[in-house]
Amino acid sequence: MGFHTAERIRSLPSYPFAVINERVAALRAQGVAPIDFGVGDPTLPTPTVIRERLKTAVDERACSGYPSYIGDAAFRTACATWMKGQFGTDIDPATEITTTIGSKEGIFNFPLGFVESGDIVLCPAPGYPPYQRGTMFAGGTPYYLPLLRENHYLPDLEAIPSDVVAKSRILWLCYPNAPTGALAPDSFFQDAIAWGQKNDVIVVNDEAYIDLYYEEKPRSILEFGKENVVAFHSMSKRSAMTGWRIGWTAGDPDIIGVFRKVKTNIDSGTPTFIQDASIAGLEDEEHVVQMREDYRAKRDMLAQTFATLGFDDCAPAATIHYWQRVPAGVDAVEFATKLLDPSIAVVCTPGPWLADKAADGTHAGKGYVRFSMVPSQDDTRRACDAILANKTKLIG
Ligand SMILES: Cc1ncc(COP(=O)(O)O)c(C=O)c1O
Repeated sequence: MGFHTAERIRSLPSYPFAVINERVAALRAQGVAPIDFGVGDPTLPTPTVIRERLKTAVDERACSGYPSYIGDAAFRTACATWMKGQFGTDIDPATEITTTIGSKEGIFNFPLGFVESGDIVLCPAPGYPPYQRGTMFAGGTPYYLPLLRENHYLPDLEAIPSDVVAKSRILWLCYPNAPTGALAPDSFFQDAIAWGQKNDVIVVNDEAYIDLYYEEKPRSILEFGKENVVAFHSMSKRSAMTGWRIGWTAGDPDIIGVFRKVKTNIDSGTPTFIQDASIAGLEDEEHVVQMREDYRAKRDMLAQTFATLGFDDCAPAATIHYWQRVPAGVDAVEFATKLLDPSIAVVCTPGPWLADKAADGTHAGKGYVRFSMVPSQDDTRRACDAILANKTKLIG
């Protein structure tokens, strides 16, 4: 007796964050409690306003029934109202929005509607792994666009060879950018949309971090156009709801229509009582203000620590990630490994694990480490103290 494991699974490298989880488990097994900046899972509680609404919604939905495939009309309307308030966009909840079971599900499944075997999907490197993995599962090939500090972490669309452009179906963008923390200027959104329309490429902006900014308020790509454009949103980071699994996609109604067809065949949606509670989360911005202040305090602690180590100033403008360049001569993987010494016990993600090599050989993750600012302020303080106390051990 035996079984066949599909090539699409056999050929996959391990998911980077699974490796981080293993490292954390190994430290715990030694009796050390590490401070974990590795996986970007917020540790703050989901705000009371959302949890309280869930309790009443569960009773209101005593007969659960399957959720709507495309999302409850009230939730889609709340999403459109929120987007109008935040970005001034006019999105029709009837045709231009569909819910997702969190952005990961949506991002992973999106290419199934648009990508055939042999097609190319343009993915930022570094970038969120499902851009690449969803492409591969759909039979397409990822083509990596390096995000470099000297280009303000923006991809160079004009540098993509014309034979690659001809086979490209989707351009994945993520601004505010994870993990670099960069914002895109208006001109970049305008150029990317024009480029996508000219080349028949769908331009998708992953806006998972749009609420978590520290200076200038980020703009949605949908402020610049809707034709051939969609945006992915998530409740996960704005409201510390990673465990609830809810987000939405908005934009070009023809694209949303195809994506609804994909999803209708795959899943049965996020439970309606979670959609009800999420409406309360979208109607309250006060908790998001507090969330921003908490991340800002941690960003500032890390910025001060890296400055004391003599590292370049890489403080993010947005997101919960800190993409720090290590000095020339210091290897990022080695630096991250030294941080795991039980006397420091700080977990971060080496940049090379988060960025695939571009076709021209550029490895945009080389020389970087990512700190996801999810430990508490107290733990962040302790981590910074441990790093500074071990400066010589870490960088000589
Ligand atoms: C860039 C980016 N997009 C999307 C997601 C997915 O968020 P969720 O599936 O929880 O909505 C994440 C999660 O870490 C992320 O980092």
